[in-house]
Amino acid sequence: MATMTSLIGLINKIQRACTVLGDHGGEGLSLWEALPSVAVVGGQSSGKSSVLESVVGRDFLPRGSGIVTRRPLVLQLHKTENGQEYAEFLHLPRKRFTDFAAVRKEIADETDRITGKSKQISNIPIQLSIYSPNVVNLTLIDLPGLTKVAVEGQQESIVQDIEQMVRSYVEKPNCIILAISPANQDIATSDAIKIAKEVDPSGERTFGVVTKLDLMDKGTNAVDVLEGRQYRLQHPWVGIVNRSQADINKNVDMIVARRKEREYFETSPEYGHLAHKMGSEYLARLLSQHLEQVIRQKIPSIIALINKTIDELNAELDRIGRPIAVDSGAQLYTILEMCRAFDKVFKEHLD
Ligand code: GDP
Ligand code: NA
Ligand code: MG
Repeated sequence: MATMTSLIGLINKIQRACTVLGDHGGEGLSLWEALPSVAVVGGQSSGKSSVLESVVGRDFLPRGSGIVTRRPLVLQLHKTENGQEYAEFLHLPRKRFTDFAAVRKEIADETDRITGKSKQISNIPIQLSIYSPNVVNLTLIDLPGLTKVAVEGQQESIVQDIEQMVRSYVEKPNCIILAISPANQDIATSDAIKIAKEVDPSGERTFGVVTKLDLMDKGTNAVDVLEGRQYRLQHPWVGIVNRSQADINKNVDMIVARRKEREYFETSPEYGHLAHKMGSEYLARLLSQHLEQVIRQKIPSIIALINKTIDELNAELDRIGRPIAVDSGAQLYTILEMCRAFDKVFKEHLD
């Protein structure tokens, strides 16, 4: 029997197949929708990119002022055992990136390719796989940061457009919400918690993350939040200390930053007792384990949906007429084969 770990890999393959098919969780029947995933939500500058980079152990996300993330970024992390570290985009299948500055540039360029330089947003995801010894197997979806006002050059509707896009992900029952709130703002005013509360009132699929613990006013701390007394969730809250802007300017290495974060919690008078349940590495492990568990529970419904998809693909192929010569038919056929393969492997997992 295949291991638990390969379940996340399987889901990743299906997600990539869906994207190729043009299914990215929009309206109508969507296989994508049935796949559990983790979506990162939070207000602008809450620390979303920093958390993602820390979980990956690499600097690779575009940064800047304004709305940098303008397309969903589906980030599939694969742990390697041979020390290899590289990235691959679905839209550039034969290119291996070992330079993470080039990954950053490609994300920015590929964002502009769809949205123009117009600073508009698009719900067509960019799909990026990172293979590294420093990651756990996990899939995360980075979404545009929630904002309150449009900046110059942006249409007024952008605020609602972003909220609508974020909502379209987090309202799906299979979405695990990674809700990011900065510690130097009142949790009651957190954009992430506000939206999570609406779509997941019982807190069963929300993971609360508090960033910027190092930036709190002297004499205050987030122990009440982290111990679940301010806003209750079914999962434990995780506190994070990311690189500061000064650290980023100094190019502090992500692996060094992880070590500093660990030291921060271990030596902290306020959070020392929680140290073993804090930090980005702990968060990554927690999410990976949870995702595997959720996928395992969902196997029967995923099989059902794959079979439905197989039926639909067969119907579509009949409509086009076999044998298939045209490209689109060939693509459908490939996906059909893939679905059959997934069906088989998932059924093995049921035993
Ligand atoms: P995003 O807009 O949500 O993606 O936020 P970023 O990750 O880009 O972070 C915004 C700014 O906050 C950057 O200058 C980060 O260096 C800084 N930042 C994020 N998290 C922390 C943290 O935990 N501590 C400190 N000191 N700065 C942080
Ligand atoms: Na943000
Ligand atoms: Mg960001």
